[in-house]
Parts: sequence; structure tokens; C-alpha cells
Amino acid sequence: MTTILDGKKLSAKILNKLSEEIRKLDKKPSLAVILVGDNPASELYVNLKKKAAEKIGITSTVLTYPQNIDEKTVLDKISELNNDKNVDAILVQLPLPQQINSTNIIQAISPKKDVDGFTPENIGKMSIGVEPYAYPCTPKGILTLLEEYKINLQGKHVVIIGRSNIVGKPLAQMLLNKDATVTICHSATTNLSDITKTADILISAVGKPKIIKKDMIKNNSVIVDVGTSKVDGKIFGDVDFENLSELTSYITPVPGGVGPMTIASLLVNTYELSKRMRKN
Ligand code: GUN
Repeated sequence: MTTILDGKKLSAKILNKLSEEIRKLDKKPSLAVILVGDNPASELYVNLKKKAAEKIGITSTVLTYPQNIDEKTVLDKISELNNDKNVDAILVQLPLPQQINSTNIIQAISPKKDVDGFTPENIGKMSIGVEPYAYPCTPKGILTLLEEYKINLQGKHVVIIGRSNIVGKPLAQMLLNKDATVTICHSATTNLSDITKTADILISAVGKPKIIKKDMIKNNSVIVDVGTSKVDGKIFGDVDFENLSELTSYITPVPGGVGPMTIASLLVNTYELSKRMRKN
């Protein structure tokens, strides 16, 4: 029988504890979010982040810009936020429109306010096993969930599908730091199911509904589904949950698995950045 990795329940537990910590503070932690354009998924995610932040006493400000905004306007705003003592954490929602170079934008964020842990300084520190100011939120959420259910990573073969800078690449580094053996697969991988069938833990971050079928996994493996796709108003993960879950030892649902853990990690990161900021 499989066990559901309940991200909704764990995130509620984490956020309850965090809200108690925040209640004790004289000055609330503050998060600034930059949202460019009208990507409906980004709008939805930013709204969820804002609501969750406010619920636990984190001040959040969403700065919205039209799709055709120029890069300099966003860079100037980041510079202003970097210097604003009332802002502890900065998040630029990705993806950005084509005319904006995402790398330039990310590099402009002060590493000490980089709540996503995406700046070169934070990614570089993480890669050499030094504590960054913040760890990327989705990978951190996944590791927190696996730890809660006492899923051992040492020596385990973890296969990640997806090589994004947001999930796949930082997740691989964090798993390596935990002594896992990590394989990253991507759109040019030729023998995908041969590889996924060898995974003790399979993590899919593709964003295409039900592409992971039961003949692609090893029996009793752990399956983590990072994908969310909307089809006819219904949310699906990358994993064909109904037909495959009984073969697994642990599996995340979609929704209610990785998504809430990403938000919990974002708010924990915001709190921790604010604490460090006030010490200095
Ligand atoms: N877009 C999708 N996921 C994320 C995330 O974790 N952080 C940011 N900044 N943008 C995203």
C-alpha cells in the first residue's frame, strides 16, 4: 500500500509554527514580489503567495508591470528594493517576457534579499556545499517533505526529469549534498523510461499531464510530482496517479503535494532573511 506525501498538511503545520514566531516580532517580515505581464499561471501563483504571506503576518507587496515593460525599469525597481530597509525579501516571478533578460534581472537582486536563492552567489554557495542565504523554494519544499516522511536519500538513485534553473538543477545539487546518486533527464534524453525504471526516487518537473505511466517506474519507488497542468479547468500532475499509485511506496498528489510546500518554503525563507537582516 502506498503512503501519500501530504504537502498540504505539512505546509499547514510549518506555517502555523511560523505564524507563532512572527506574532512575537515587533516588525513583520516583508516580501516584495515583481510580476511582469499577464501570464495566468504566474498571476495565480503570485496571488497564492500573497494570500499565504498575509495569513501568517508577512507583509507582501506585489509590483505589477505590463508585458511590454523594458528591462531597465525592472532593474531600477530592484535596485530601489535592494536599498529599502523595509523590504527583507525580493521575488521576481518567472518566466519573464522575451525582451527582458532573466539572468540580468536575477543577478541584480541582492543575495541577502534573494528569497528564491537564484542569484549566482546563492546558487554557487549551494553548489560547493556552503549555506546560501536561501535555498530555491520548490527543491527545499521537496526535501522538507521527504524528510518529514523519513525517506532516506543516502546512496539512493534519484532521477529528476527537468533541468530548469528553478527546479531540476538546484534540486540535483541539494540531493547530491545529501549523498544521493542523481541523474537529470530532459527533453533530449533518448532512453527516458530505461532510466526512470532504475529510480528509487523519481521526481518529475515537466508540466505535461500524465506523461509518467506505470511501465516507467520501479515497484515500491517514491514518486514526487512537481508538474501542474490545467486541462478543461482541471489540475493534473505529470504522473498518471490513478493507474500508478498502487505500485509506489510513497507518492505526492497534485494538487496538495509539492505546490503547498513551495509556498511554505518561500515564507520560511522570507522569515529567515528578515531575521538575518535585522541582526546586521
Ligand atoms: N516560477 C515558477 N516557480 C517559481 C519560483 O519558485 N520562483 C520564481 N521566482 N518564479 C517561479
